[in-house]
Amino acid sequence: MVVDNEIKGRLALVTGASGGTHNNLRIGAACSRDLHAYGTRLALTYSTNKDSLDNLVAELLKQSKDLKISTHQCDVAKEADLQRLFDEVKHEHGQHPDILVANAGYGKRVSNILDIALEEWDYTINVNLRSSFILTKLAVPHMLEQHWGRIVYITSIAAGGTSINGCHYSASKAGVQGMSKNLANKMSKDGITFNDVAPAMITGTGMIPSEENLKGTPGDVKNIPVGRSGHTTECANVVTMLCRTGYMTGQSILLSGGLK
Ligand SMILES: NC(=O)c1ccc[n+]([C@@H]2O[C@H](COP(=O)([O-])OP(=O)(O)OC[C@H]3O[C@@H](n4cnc5c(N)ncnc54)[C@H](OP(=O)(O)O)[C@@H]3O)[C@@H](O)[C@H]2O)c1
Repeated sequence: MVVDNEIKGRLALVTGASGGTHNNLRIGAACSRDLHAYGTRLALTYSTNKDSLDNLVAELLKQSKDLKISTHQCDVAKEADLQRLFDEVKHEHGQHPDILVANAGYGKRVSNILDIALEEWDYTINVNLRSSFILTKLAVPHMLEQHWGRIVYITSIAAGGTSINGCHYSASKAGVQGMSKNLANKMSKDGITFNDVAPAMITGTGMIPSEENLKGTPGDVKNIPVGRSGHTTECANVVTMLCRTGYMTGQSILLSGGLK
């Protein structure tokens, strides 16, 4: 039996790869940098933050000019944008992605159900859950054809209930976990693995700029067993591990410093 965990030369699509600066990249950008260090080619998306993605690409190209990197504007809430994204990726790289990191996400912090407008619920579900379904549908045919694929969703500790955010955000992330486990059961024999990384209290991000923003919430650093918030490079480590480990599928990996 051939075991192929090599990601060098593979094409990885990372959604929401924009944001942050050189020393403090956001989660999608940190994943992109780490996959690039392992020799993957990259297709990276941004929604509004083009400059930060351009800066990241310039940095990565300095390290290795041979690994092609393309960038794409995409609002993952729009089905047409996702379809166009896959068309552009095919045009730029001559193929669809071998690895999908569905990271782009949204979560306006509204804790109390009575304050969550139906529009907020719908938009959160669209960006976090519906887009993951559409992206997966677009990604799977190429992976099936070559009997090799890795799909990693960035979910959240919120999927299990613990959250500084409201039930809309938890529901959107729990939906992704359910979808991932279903697909893992049905499709892992086809060479595609499906896993999710569920981070908690990762600071230096748009969602949680600093530990100050956690004070007085369930994510307050005093409640985190390791005694600090998480770093985006730690998310990237786990994502890359999942891409390089084909024997792991259908798992939700809680990355929370021990917070339950
Ligand atoms: N930070 C945490 O502690 C934490 C915890 C649990 C889960 N997460 C999850 O981790 C992922 C990354 O979050 P982050 O903390 O790095 O947040 P972030 O700094 O706010 O980054 C969000 C990323 O998603 C993109 N994005 C947002 N809405 C989009 C849309 N409608 N269409 C396309 N892209 C969109 C943003 O693009 P632009 O900047 O270009 O607009 C950005 O690249 C999200 O799925 C989030 O739910 C984060």
